[in-house]
Amino acid sequence: MELLDGKLVSEAIKQELTTAVAEIRENGGKVPHLAAVLVGDNPASEVYVNSKIKSCEQVGFRSTLIRRPATISEAELLDLVHALNNDPEVDGFIVQLPLPPHIHEERIMLAIDHRKDVDGFHPINFGRMAQGMPAFLPATPYGIVEMLRRYRIETAGKHCVVLGRSNIVGTPISLLLSRKGYPGDCTVTLTHSRTRNIAEEVRRADIVIAAIGKPCFVQADWVKEGAVVVDVGINRIADPTRKSGFRLVGDVDFESVAPKCSYITPVPGGVGLMTVAALLMNTLKAAKKEIYPN
Ligand code: GUN
Repeated sequence: MELLDGKLVSEAIKQELTTAVAEIRENGGKVPHLAAVLVGDNPASEVYVNSKIKSCEQVGFRSTLIRRPATISEAELLDLVHALNNDPEVDGFIVQLPLPPHIHEERIMLAIDHRKDVDGFHPINFGRMAQGMPAFLPATPYGIVEMLRRYRIETAGKHCVVLGRSNIVGTPISLLLSRKGYPGDCTVTLTHSRTRNIAEEVRRADIVIAAIGKPCFVQADWVKEGAVVVDVGINRIADPTRKSGFRLVGDVDFESVAPKCSYITPVPGGVGLMTVAALLMNTLKAAKKEIYPN
């Protein structure tokens, strides 16, 4: 069993991005600038956004964190999105999810200029991705394919079973891995809460992508010997031995599953770090206008 080490790979990517920023500076160009909008005080969102901002600093990007209270109205948040769309200083921005229940996430996502949508959540980016056109790929799926690429994991002809059909992970990674080329050319099964027998589906998988948000859901006897397991889950479970009172576990029961795998991502230290690296890669593309030249 070999770990798919998100720390190692994300650090390598950050090193490459640091070099890219240095080149931009040498050529008198504008340093990439990411803005992040954080609404309310969801502790997990707080951790993720802080990690995104800190990573920007590490690679030399400009970053701006915009905090708003959970009581912000939808109209006010839309105004903020429009201001960021029109701000020539901002290359890309994200609105951290989830948003408070009185705000329609869909309306906010649709309001983001797709040319600045470095999370890849706008339907224009999603549709372009689905058709294999240049697009901002959603950060987590982008991070996963980049991890598979950098570990040279074979994907062609493999059977990939995805758990979870969310718009931000399960559905887009299914599309990406079924597309022509590398990493791709998989036969993909997308499972979800209405799937009859998830364990049976997972047993057929050469590659398992677990993105359902249930702690330690995937069991050892579901996983084929030699499978590649990518664990997208970041779940907090109570742990009285920790000062924080909790610890993080994935959607895979790592202890029992890992010995059966050829490769597996740890939690933490796996996909989460790759998501941040992917967001930075998208921000560089936005600044260089690689996806949308105009
Ligand atoms: N919430 C969970 N993951 C993400 C992400 O990748 N981007 C944003 N904006 N919100 C999230």
